[in-house]
Amino acid sequence: MVAKVITVFNQKGGCGKTTMTIQIAGTLALRGYRTLVIDMDEQNTATRWASQADDANPFPASMMNLAAMGGKMRGAVKNYLGDYDFIVIDCPPAALSDAPSSAMLISDLALIPIVPAPADMWASVAAKKLALTAQMTNETLQIRILPNMVQKNTNLARDTLDVLAEDTEIPMLRARIASRSAFRECQLTGSTVHFLSRTSAAAQEVDALTDEVLEILGVTQSKRRKA
Ligand SMILES: Nc1ncnc2c1ncn2[C@@H]1O[C@H](COP(=O)(O)OP(=O)(O)OP(=O)(O)O)[C@@H](O)[C@H]1O
Ligand SMILES: [Mg+2]
Repeated sequence: MVAKVITVFNQKGGCGKTTMTIQIAGTLALRGYRTLVIDMDEQNTATRWASQADDANPFPASMMNLAAMGGKMRGAVKNYLGDYDFIVIDCPPAALSDAPSSAMLISDLALIPIVPAPADMWASVAAKKLALTAQMTNETLQIRILPNMVQKNTNLARDTLDVLAEDTEIPMLRARIASRSAFRECQLTGSTVHFLSRTSAAAQEVDALTDEVLEILGVTQSKRRKA
């Protein structure tokens, strides 16, 4: 299978791009898919996260840092399409970076993590525009909003998710990732949330998110489940 490529991006800093990249890629790898994470951020957060793992429990996906290549990364990524089932690209927050546009031209799916709060919604307008521009060239690109750090049962979250759902151009995933300490804790262990507990609410949310990503990409889940 030629790798399915997923780009995770949003110019807004701190909305959970790296967290979602690590969780999705790690979960795909735990399920037995050959998975590569490409870190396009000069902060190297994804690379550092994975390097926290000890030798006995290494981060399950492969890691590659192409941050220095910026918008020229596309050619390099194409070389790995035959070696993996999934390539997940973590983009930097920089508005002027060429990385997201370049990555989206070779991607099957663009995920835009958004925290359901006003400032994050306002900032997401630019990200949505960038994704729709990429889709004009790469017509098979699918784009989804990924609600992250959702504070369930609050009026703010409900109202902002309602507004996001009204967008007819870019659908929102059914999956919701709540604000949970598990997502911060597993940075210390270089792992997905499954390492802390396979049955936790965080792990269930990540599993549902990964299931939905596979569904969008039309991948039948036949791999042996290790997660
Ligand atoms: N669902 C969540 N629950 C709790 N904390 C979260 C969640 N998602 C992300 N965080 C935390 O929020 C912070 C920012 O997350 P992350 O680094 O993934 O965002 P980012 O968009 O990649 O940031 P940057 O723009 O700097 O690259 C981190 O401390 C992370 O642990
Ligand atoms: Mg990041």
